[in-house]
Amino acid sequence: MRIDIITCVPSLLTSFFSHSILDRAVKKGLAEVKVHDLRDYATNKQKQVDDYAFGGGAGMVLKIEPIAAVIRKLQAERSYDEIIYMTPDGKRFDQPTANRLSMMTNLILLCGHYKGVDQRVRDIFVTSEISIGDYVLSGGEIPAAVVADSVIRLIPGVLNDETSALSDSFQDNLLAPPVYTRPADFEGHSVPPVLLSGHEANIEAWRAEQSLKNTLEKRPDLLGDLD
Ligand code: ADE
Repeated sequence: MRIDIITCVPSLLTSFFSHSILDRAVKKGLAEVKVHDLRDYATNKQKQVDDYAFGGGAGMVLKIEPIAAVIRKLQAERSYDEIIYMTPDGKRFDQPTANRLSMMTNLILLCGHYKGVDQRVRDIFVTSEISIGDYVLSGGEIPAAVVADSVIRLIPGVLNDETSALSDSFQDNLLAPPVYTRPADFEGHSVPPVLLSGHEANIEAWRAEQSLKNTLEKRPDLLGDLD
């Protein structure tokens, strides 16, 4: 899978993608992430990528020409499954969306900044819009990193233990059960004995029960209407 991220603050993203799982996915050849600096596509000498809003009002708007130029350049090189604009008024991101996107081949993530992008970018180029939650960040870079991380870790072969993505919270609309490691006793706080029993079926049953208990306590909304 290839993800192209378009931003006017590339430095916010480059260090993020050179770490941990994402770096491993790139090195294994399972994912490719390219960050594009909008300023490289600015058409005037000042490398201006934003301008005042028509009709007035506070805040700058990202101009359409540099965005159109980078998107068209990328589209000339390969076809894209989706061009996704990161925006607080997009569809709320969730695990089913991450699962769906992880099956795509080429994605563009467009990061807004300031007051956002000229509406015509959304009308002409964008195929879907994603929000990572009901709060406003200063740009779409952190949301793009969130989406890329959650999608890339789902690509088969990226995680060492293939089953570990399947046992993540949310994969069955259930939160994950608690996990423990050594020591078995820390200052009198001991690990549930079933986990030390070696009895696989009992361990699995305990985990399923804890998952349900966790979800009922913390996120009952995930279970929907039980009756
Ligand atoms: N840009 C600014 N805030 C955002 C959010 N909550 N989700 C996606 N993109 C954003």
